Amino acid sequence: MVEDKSENSNESEKVLDLEDIPNVGSAIAEKLRSAGFTTIESVAVASPSEISSVAEIGESLALKIITSARKLANIGGFESGDVILQRRRSIGKITTGSKALDELLGGGGETQAITELFGEFGSGKTQICHQLAVNVQLPKEEGGLEGAVVVIDTEGTFRPERIAQMAEAKGLDADEVLKNIFVAQAYNSNHQMLLVDNAKELANKLKTEGKQVRLMIVDSLTAHFRAEYVGRGTLADRQQKLNRHLHDLLRFGELFNAAIVVTNQVMAKPDQFFGDPTKPVGGHIVAHTATFRVYLRKSKGELRVARLIDSPHLPESEAVFKVTERGIEDK
Ligand code: GTP
Ligand code: MG
Repeated sequence: MVEDKSENSNESEKVLDLEDIPNVGSAIAEKLRSAGFTTIESVAVASPSEISSVAEIGESLALKIITSARKLANIGGFESGDVILQRRRSIGKITTGSKALDELLGGGGETQAITELFGEFGSGKTQICHQLAVNVQLPKEEGGLEGAVVVIDTEGTFRPERIAQMAEAKGLDADEVLKNIFVAQAYNSNHQMLLVDNAKELANKLKTEGKQVRLMIVDSLTAHFRAEYVGRGTLADRQQKLNRHLHDLLRFGELFNAAIVVTNQVMAKPDQFFGDPTKPVGGHIVAHTATFRVYLRKSKGELRVARLIDSPHLPESEAVFKVTERGIEDK
């Protein structure tokens, strides 16, 4: 089976720490981590001057470290087309609960891809995340992937009570559903990035218990980054870290055949910090890495409108759905 093949190959993936790189002790590792280099892969693709400046070491040592990291990291490898095709064939979709919204997304929240939900407060981003966390657990015939969920909650908006409500509306046992959702609070952007590594370890451990993580939620992707990097001077820094974070997330999605769903708040009112109010924080980098970008806006009462923005293979169109007691539904 295609499915089994991709899953077996994950098993061999051992999670290494920065300290596993020769010449990297705890002091250097700490400096790297606090600059957002949380994985060996991120070090492997960095430039010597970057590593030298953040770790406060000479460029020649930085180069040595990068070279070692490249040997350890599974990067730069070529894959044959048939292997890629196999992996693409195992892509799964998670129903949002609304047929219209599923259709907009080409069938639902897709695995091995990042779906970015962006919109102003109350536009339904967190509600969709909660609904997907329930729906991914459904059997395949009902639009799920019989999978578990990892949630990185940066704003403390995860509500188990809301999950229970949505689960019961689908006739599911709320306690069982909650047992398959693993939530961590991220205290700042570095912690948020580190949690992706922890999630990898958790997903590997769950796999040995027969549970597959098929959905990772980051709600919100950008809030910490926005709060921590306010001046223009650090904008490039922020973008670089966000970029690394997104690539780590995408890698998680590919490793575990999981859907990655992230949220990004945009202001309805002109934003004094970031210029154009309709441009989400993270700007171009998020735009280029996210595979599906969904702009959400409020309409009358429970109604919400979703629009797919610059997707390479789906037409730009709109879907109307509603947020009710039961969760996400068609209008
Ligand atoms: P921010 O995180 O503030 O940027 O907003 P968001 O886009 O995450 O908004 P969220 O998904 O939290 O949407 C909140 C809205 O969902 C509320 O204003 C309600 O309209 C709706 N909602 C949430 N829970 C319920 C519920 O139990 N019943 C109904 N009918 N609507 C709900
Ligand atoms: Mg929210």
